[in-house]
Amino acid sequence: DESARLSQSPDDLPSVSVSVQFSDFAYRTDEGKPWVLPVVKKVESIIVNDTTLNHEYLPILGLPEFRSSASKIALGDDSPAIQENRVGAVQCLGGTGALKMGAEFLRRFYNGNNNTKTPVFVSAPTWENHNAVFSNAGFEDVRPYKYWDAQNRGLDLAGFLGDLESCPEHSIFVLHACAHNPTGTDPTQEQWKQIAEVMMRRKLFVFFDSAYQGFASGSLDKDAWAVRYFVSMGFEMLCAQSFSKNFGLYNERVGNLTIVARDADNLKRVLSQMEKIVRTTWSNPPSQGARVVAVTLNSPELFAEWKDNVKTMADRVLLMRAQLKAKLQALGTPGTWEHITDQIGMFSFTGLNPNQVEYMIKEKHIYLMASGRINMCGLTTKNIDYVAESIHEAVTSVQ
Ligand SMILES: Cc1ncc(COP(=O)(O)O)c(C=O)c1O
Ligand SMILES: *[C@@H]1O[C@H](CO)[C@@H](O)[C@H](O)[C@H]1NC(C)=O
Ligand SMILES: *[C@@H]1O[C@H](CO)[C@@H](O)[C@H](O)[C@H]1NC(C)=O
Ligand SMILES: *[C@@H]1O[C@H](CO)[C@@H](O)[C@H](O)[C@H]1NC(C)=O
Repeated sequence: DESARLSQSPDDLPSVSVSVQFSDFAYRTDEGKPWVLPVVKKVESIIVNDTTLNHEYLPILGLPEFRSSASKIALGDDSPAIQENRVGAVQCLGGTGALKMGAEFLRRFYNGNNNTKTPVFVSAPTWENHNAVFSNAGFEDVRPYKYWDAQNRGLDLAGFLGDLESCPEHSIFVLHACAHNPTGTDPTQEQWKQIAEVMMRRKLFVFFDSAYQGFASGSLDKDAWAVRYFVSMGFEMLCAQSFSKNFGLYNERVGNLTIVARDADNLKRVLSQMEKIVRTTWSNPPSQGARVVAVTLNSPELFAEWKDNVKTMADRVLLMRAQLKAKLQALGTPGTWEHITDQIGMFSFTGLNPNQVEYMIKEKHIYLMASGRINMCGLTTKNIDYVAESIHEAVTSVQ
């Protein structure tokens, strides 16, 4: 056959599966329903009423008010790096787009050029897309760094620091800014300081992924502590910021890639190259989500209302954690359950083993990942007793 074929044989074009349960990553109300933040509803109607808006293309790097939003929620209003004009941003398609643009830039230019061999370290475990985003950008050596201590159901700080000490200089590390997905376990401030010290000394590059700012503690500032600390230590860095979760704007694809450069001149050159990468990827970003975020952040009243909406979501998760732990303790379920409330953010590593997970799914129709990870938002005041009793049964009857 001489005709032009998409592929010559099934071997050339194997079928792959990219099945993701997106609701696994989303917030749900106590009724188990998606939640449109009231502030978002309000801002959408402001946007609809605004007759000055049109549907022209945005600039390649994004909506100016979005890129520079007065409130500067990732770095803080008073960031010296911002005052020194060495912080810039690219509006991206969600947090994933921000990671992708950052990865494409790093592979081309980081520390010289053509970094296909530079190791990129992602936490073990991590959000599974981290591996693929970096390898698809051309990095041939994406590896795990030690993070989760299954025995103690907490952070493996010694392992983490050990990997930082023994990896090649100039390696790239993807760090979860807060509310680590999937373990719900973040370093403490003291631990972050130790991590930063080794990373600085060993000349390692930090790429923060901030997908859940506000979800860990209910406070945007508290959740940005690690990012701001690294900036204050003088790191050049990238930070991928997603507004999917904290604005509930999942399908608008609104994200921000922050670039903290050495100086204003470097920033200018980075942004010019970013413009070229964006131009050949999606050309220019969509406006609706960025407008919602920018209008909200640029009005003190709407900003306050948004922070309150974020706290509503975080508080519901915190309440479910407290209740789940209390119920398991009241049932006398073997093992310790402190980790349920020690962990933060949307996810929890329950510590259930694969057999117990299978029991939960087959016998109880409670669906969770084989790793034992649950989305806390799946719990409601109506199902929490059933969930706690089912965990109790799984732990007591399945090895
Ligand atoms: C750790 C982490 N990073 C990034 C993202 C990407 O979010 P977005 O939907 O904004 O692309 C997610 C989404 O689940 C995530 O969990
Ligand atoms: C938008 O316009 C409608 C109709 O004029 C009005 O009822 C509504 O209050 C306006 N909303 C805002 C947020 O201004
Ligand atoms: C995007 O990042 C830049 C650089 O950190 C920051 O100034 C801006 O406020 C961010 N935009 C939003 C909407 O957070
Ligand atoms: C980059 O490095 C890879 C691996 O060493 C090599 O195959 C590729 O040709 C290089 N690309 C450029 C543009 O130098």
